[in-house]
Amino acid sequence: MRFENSKKLYEEAKNMVPGGVSSSIRQTEWPVPLFFESAKGSKMFDVDGNEYIDYVMGMGPNIFGHSPKFIIDSVFKDMQDGFCLTGQTRKENELSEFILKTLPFKRKFRYASSGTEIVQIALRLARSYTNKNKFLKFEGHYHGWMDSVLYNSHPEVSSEESLYEPVPESGGISHGTANEVVIAPWNDVEALENILKDQSENISAIITEPILWNTNVILPNSGYLKELRNLCDKYNVLLIFDEVGTGFRVALGGAQEIYDVEPDLSTYAKSMAGGFPIAMLAGKPEIMNYMANGKVVHGGSFNTNVMSVSASHATLNYLLNNLNFYQSLNQKGDLLIEGLKDAAKNHDVDILIQGLGSVFYLSFTSLKRIENYREHANNVDNEKYKEFSKLMLLNGVRLSQNGRWHMSSSHDDSDIEKTIYAAAESFKAIS
Ligand SMILES: Cc1ncc(COP(=O)(O)O)c(C=O)c1O
Repeated sequence: MRFENSKKLYEEAKNMVPGGVSSSIRQTEWPVPLFFESAKGSKMFDVDGNEYIDYVMGMGPNIFGHSPKFIIDSVFKDMQDGFCLTGQTRKENELSEFILKTLPFKRKFRYASSGTEIVQIALRLARSYTNKNKFLKFEGHYHGWMDSVLYNSHPEVSSEESLYEPVPESGGISHGTANEVVIAPWNDVEALENILKDQSENISAIITEPILWNTNVILPNSGYLKELRNLCDKYNVLLIFDEVGTGFRVALGGAQEIYDVEPDLSTYAKSMAGGFPIAMLAGKPEIMNYMANGKVVHGGSFNTNVMSVSASHATLNYLLNNLNFYQSLNQKGDLLIEGLKDAAKNHDVDILIQGLGSVFYLSFTSLKRIENYREHANNVDNEKYKEFSKLMLLNGVRLSQNGRWHMSSSHDDSDIEKTIYAAAESFKAIS
């Protein structure tokens, strides 16, 4: 396999774009951030003529695979009549009606373009509604790259450490934001209640990924989300589910449907438009109405642009008419998971796979289960995963840098078979 053209383009890009990439995580790609020519279905094709079975899938959004024709057709048709209208359309209302049918609880919505933005408005709304200034987030959870939330997503920790101090994860983060965030361990009801007992008077909301998409795809312990709901009610704190990752990927109604827990607000983005940029805040009407009466300001020139609404409309129309979509997506993923586990076992390599068929995490560890960020940070061999993902790339399989695998409906039996074969070869090489 050669990467000469990607290497050349990367050198060129570095002169113009800091680090040669437009999103920090891409800088960690091996051998260089690859440059792509095209992507269709489960495959990506780079500028050196290499073909890959892709499990990055846009870091989640591409539930139908790359460039699904029905979405392209819809977007192409709708954009003929203008695309950045910065105004309301009938189609947006239709989209909202579809969304009402998908979500398990009665909601009102606002749209934006990215997950980071939509989390921002969720937190602002929570502050205004509760008249309290702080919010609580959990260690190992990621909610976007803005100053207020870029704390303790992947901090350095040792098992002895007991304190949960806010640790900013970028230079240039406003120092003041550290005073507004409270950090807690996830999947631990007692630790959370202790914090709330002391500090709930100042905490407007708890924001959580309901399934820990950004660390080892950890599922919540049995009853944990219901306990979160109870504690929020007891201490008069809003509950925000950040479903930017899980929304429209793990089930039509997201993780809240699977666990049957009603948050006050929830955020969505990635999978709601099959790869087009749109985000949504859904919330209890009495909270959301703070935006109707002008108490809380929310803007965005690109909000509900024609292409994103069209893509989301086509996506939801498809999902509402194909109710076994998620079952079949999970089955494909389960098949792959079983094959990967067998391949690792045959070569005596200890791996752990957590999550669901539609999205899962493969880590090199001897643990049988990981429940929180610290267990992950102290027990997972990231260097081995890096080596594994290099070997997979050389065997024609593109994996994300952070260990999370995303299935799409376009992955077929042959992709799964080839992936298991590539994994077996890679496990053999590192065993
Ligand atoms: C749970 C969660 N929230 C928010 C975000 C930020 O979304 P975006 O990358 O669209 O800004 C992400 C991105 O990965 C995410 O996983």
